[in-house]
Amino acid sequence: GPAVEFSADAGMWNVYGHPELHEVLGDPAAFSSDTMRVVPASMMPSKDDFSLDGFITQIDPPEHGKLRKLVSSAFTRKVVADLEPRIAALTHELLDAARDRERFELVSDLAYPLPVIVIAELLGVPSGDRALFKRWADALFQSDAKVSVNRPSDEREAELQAVMKPWKEMSDYLAGHAAQRRRQPRADLLTRLVEAEVDGERLPDDQVVNFAILLLLAGHITTTMLLGNTVLCLDAYPEQQDRARADRASIPAVIEEALRLFTPFAALGRATTREVKLGGVTIPADQMVMCWLGAANRDPRQFPDPEAFDPHRDPNPHLAFGRGIHFCLGAPLARLEGRIALNILLDRFERLRTDPDDPVLFIPTPTLTGVRRLAL
Ligand code: HEM
Repeated sequence: GPAVEFSADAGMWNVYGHPELHEVLGDPAAFSSDTMRVVPASMMPSKDDFSLDGFITQIDPPEHGKLRKLVSSAFTRKVVADLEPRIAALTHELLDAARDRERFELVSDLAYPLPVIVIAELLGVPSGDRALFKRWADALFQSDAKVSVNRPSDEREAELQAVMKPWKEMSDYLAGHAAQRRRQPRADLLTRLVEAEVDGERLPDDQVVNFAILLLLAGHITTTMLLGNTVLCLDAYPEQQDRARADRASIPAVIEEALRLFTPFAALGRATTREVKLGGVTIPADQMVMCWLGAANRDPRQFPDPEAFDPHRDPNPHLAFGRGIHFCLGAPLARLEGRIALNILLDRFERLRTDPDDPVLFIPTPTLTGVRRLAL
């Protein structure tokens, strides 16, 4: 199909091609992340509601650069690398807890709980509050499908209220902890965020809370999908599973290829700030542009035999973590969790093979690509 096309039904543009998306993501001046600018006022949540406004993912240069420097000075590669032993211990703990069960279900037994526990511990919330975090995570993900814009406005208002409740609870909770860390620093990410300082600037409290929430939003279910999708690929390609088992150093390449073939965040939104030419078509100013990362990752112009799972693609310039100034800040953590969990699964399961009597289920949301049930 075409690399760029207008969808009259949705009133927005779709970009499917790899070189075209490369261009879009590399040009934040023409393709803004502040998509609210093109959303009709009637679709906006009311002022008191929580919105993604103010999140780093929605912010353009030059403010984006300042914010990104500050959060990355707290959420460093070293902070992530130091988590390795803890992630391994948690993986074993979760697998032990599921050991006596008749059936091991990868998503609920490991892939869903692991990232949310890691994020909660990283931030430094008390382990007794893990259950709260899990509840908010559950509520936020379920809510995704529930707010429907084409409903009567009173119904939509009720839906919105139900959706906003966990957001509100969570931001109040995190704001409380952030304030507490200002008074009493600890060895955790919340403390590093409240103390972060770059060029004399610090993060305001609401940005500390926003970033903490974003870690859960952007870093939880995506990592869940990464784990499930990787196991799915190794189930479908037993010879690749054998190779990964024999050569553990190849696991990172296995994970990258699973990210390409089953791209967790299949689509990102951008808004044009001016008229732009892309892939031979002209997109006017102030248009919503859907960036289909999942489609670009299967573009045959970039990836020969794109539907095949081939961890030996080299290079593998997939766009699963985005590209450019908004490139996923959590990529090192997602890759680390994937590598550790997959290694331990290979150690503990003689064969990773899906149960033929228990079909694999996918998340039914078009912008997400991931298994939600995978029994071994
Ligand atoms: C940004 C994907 C895991 C935190 C992004 C973007 C993508 C992405 C595509 C770019 C968004 C854009 O350009 O609009 C993924 C995938 C993951 C993953 C596929 C797992 C396999 C994580 C984790 C964390 C995280 C584990 C943190 C704990 C972030 C943050 C941003 C981001 C903070 C915003 C960066 C910015 O706007 O400058 N992610 N992500 N992600 N991700 Fe991830």
